[in-house]
Amino acid sequence: MSGNGLGSENICVPLENSEIRRMTHQYHRYGIATVTDLIEAHTRQLVRAEAERLLEKHAERRDLRLETTGYTRRSMSVVPSEMIAANSELVTSVYSNPDLIRALEALAGEKLHPCPKADEEFLITRQEQRGDTHGWHWGDFSFALIWVLLAPPIDVGGLLQCVPHTAWDKASPRINNYLAENPINTYHFGSGDVYFLRTDTTLHRTIPLREDATRIILNMTWAGDRDLTRNFDADDRWWDNAGVSAASAIKK
Ligand SMILES: [Fe+2]
Repeated sequence: MSGNGLGSENICVPLENSEIRRMTHQYHRYGIATVTDLIEAHTRQLVRAEAERLLEKHAERRDLRLETTGYTRRSMSVVPSEMIAANSELVTSVYSNPDLIRALEALAGEKLHPCPKADEEFLITRQEQRGDTHGWHWGDFSFALIWVLLAPPIDVGGLLQCVPHTAWDKASPRINNYLAENPINTYHFGSGDVYFLRTDTTLHRTIPLREDATRIILNMTWAGDRDLTRNFDADDRWWDNAGVSAASAIKK
């Protein structure tokens, strides 16, 4: 192990074929699979310490609503992608780990490409205040690996909710139509859990915190073949810049 990176250290746990089949089925049916067992506990501990270090130095607060997702709310602190890439050899080495990518490609049934947008490769979020939430949204790119590093008790909130097999039209997101017409699946993850999400076709959010509490995640994003030829022209990259034109301030 060199510096903050993991070098050639093994970060993946070999799984039985039946377990991989089960995760693959979950992923395709529900848009999400829990992959905690795929990743060494030691690696998950290192990632948590690293995210806490980065938040300590670089956290920026966001409180806004986003037009391209029907004015759903974003209230949390973030460490933007380029800040993470420039300051964490650990995160970048996990992100490019060939065993991890191979395992996720087996679940997805297709190739994962490094995220073509440097400002969307990584994101650390910390929800901390009563009402904090990452409101209903989709991702611009196909795949996300979410490391739930610190989660509040189930009754406090922060649970993930998903509506798989949906599509994001930024000009007309129609989120309440999707919610009214489809089942919403709800997931509670504990500290240390990791899940793999099909973000571009899974509408998702976190349930707002009932009280002040801390919920920290690290998001790693990859693109699918289909993403490499698309244009991303909406000015809605709120995590990178709170002043984007699609954002409006929260009126309390
Ligand atoms: Fe998301």
